[in-house]
Amino acid sequence: MLTQQQKEWAQETLDRVVRKMEKVSRRSAHKIPYTTVNGVHDDRSGEMISWWTNGFWGGMMWQLYHLTGEESYRRIAEESEEKLDRVLMDYDGMSHDNGFTWLPTAVADYRVTQNPASRNRGLLAAGMLAGRYNVNGNFIRAWNNWPNDSADRTGWAIIDCMMNLPLLYWAGEVAEDPRFTQIAVNHAATTMKYFVRGDGSVNHIVAFDPCTGEYQCSYGGQGYKEGSSWTRGQSWGLYGFTLSYLHTKNVDFLRTAERIANYFLANIPEDGLIPVDFRQPEEVSIEDSTAAAIAACGLIELAKLEEGRQSKVYLNAALKMLTVLAEKRCNWNEEEDNLLTHCTQAYHDTQHEFSIIYGDYYFLEALLKLVEKDLFIW
Ligand code: GLY
Repeated sequence: MLTQQQKEWAQETLDRVVRKMEKVSRRSAHKIPYTTVNGVHDDRSGEMISWWTNGFWGGMMWQLYHLTGEESYRRIAEESEEKLDRVLMDYDGMSHDNGFTWLPTAVADYRVTQNPASRNRGLLAAGMLAGRYNVNGNFIRAWNNWPNDSADRTGWAIIDCMMNLPLLYWAGEVAEDPRFTQIAVNHAATTMKYFVRGDGSVNHIVAFDPCTGEYQCSYGGQGYKEGSSWTRGQSWGLYGFTLSYLHTKNVDFLRTAERIANYFLANIPEDGLIPVDFRQPEEVSIEDSTAAAIAACGLIELAKLEEGRQSKVYLNAALKMLTVLAEKRCNWNEEEDNLLTHCTQAYHDTQHEFSIIYGDYYFLEALLKLVEKDLFIW
């Protein structure tokens, strides 16, 4: 339960976001943005239509439509959903990230409107995600192999995929076919066993033998190095296991979400600004605001499942990160397109601390959760 003061803060901050998004959505109505350059959204709806983040813009529009009933948001969301049909016809363009692409677009549309074309898109995407399942290893394969890159990713799975499983839980219900759910549950169980460490931190990438399914090794992936603690990966795990519990009521998933959450909370720096990796060298100060926004969403959901002091601990940690984001890492200039600043895709990339659309999406979702007006996307 939020205090009166916390409720007022959440509502005021949400109102500021909505005021800004009214203008941003008009400017970017025909785009699918990923980042913002010189105050202007880029557009990934052309050559980069397969980019894994292309569902989040539609997701923001569905959340705003759900909140306001304003038809323009719905039209923008529908336009982005239709553009994504090109990806459904492109085997190499699809990946484990089908959940990120079609849950906030087609599935959200279907949930709101019961549109049969959206149901069809969601089920096709779920079928492709299920098709990535490795039967011997009980995991969903992450990326395809990339041209001109020597790494063989055939047996790789990644923590991020925990957030894609809800596409399978949804498909299991809608198609009345337990195979989708079985694959999601098996992947979550494998992730619990091989990704989550004793202290509650998680690996980003785990490699299995693609033929026998045996564990081979782990990699640091988008974090600092092997054995480190990429913060967005912690957030995907925290929120993802919470969602797997919500969909299955398997208590092991809830306990795992709590362990990841407790580790996350123990590592939030005093200033509330989240680094790109909790184990990056002390002299490195690279941040990732997306990790804070995603973790906040997971913590708010987890708080609803807990009682008493534990619930308050999770909720207050979410509020602390969201307050810091709003005060220090938000671009409130209504003439510029991004919300969050200081988002980082990967520790070893050359570019750090820019704006990324999923940071904005989860920031909006977290604020909506606080005022109990979010559309359930996952
Ligand atoms: N799914 C990739 C990422 O979180 O960057």
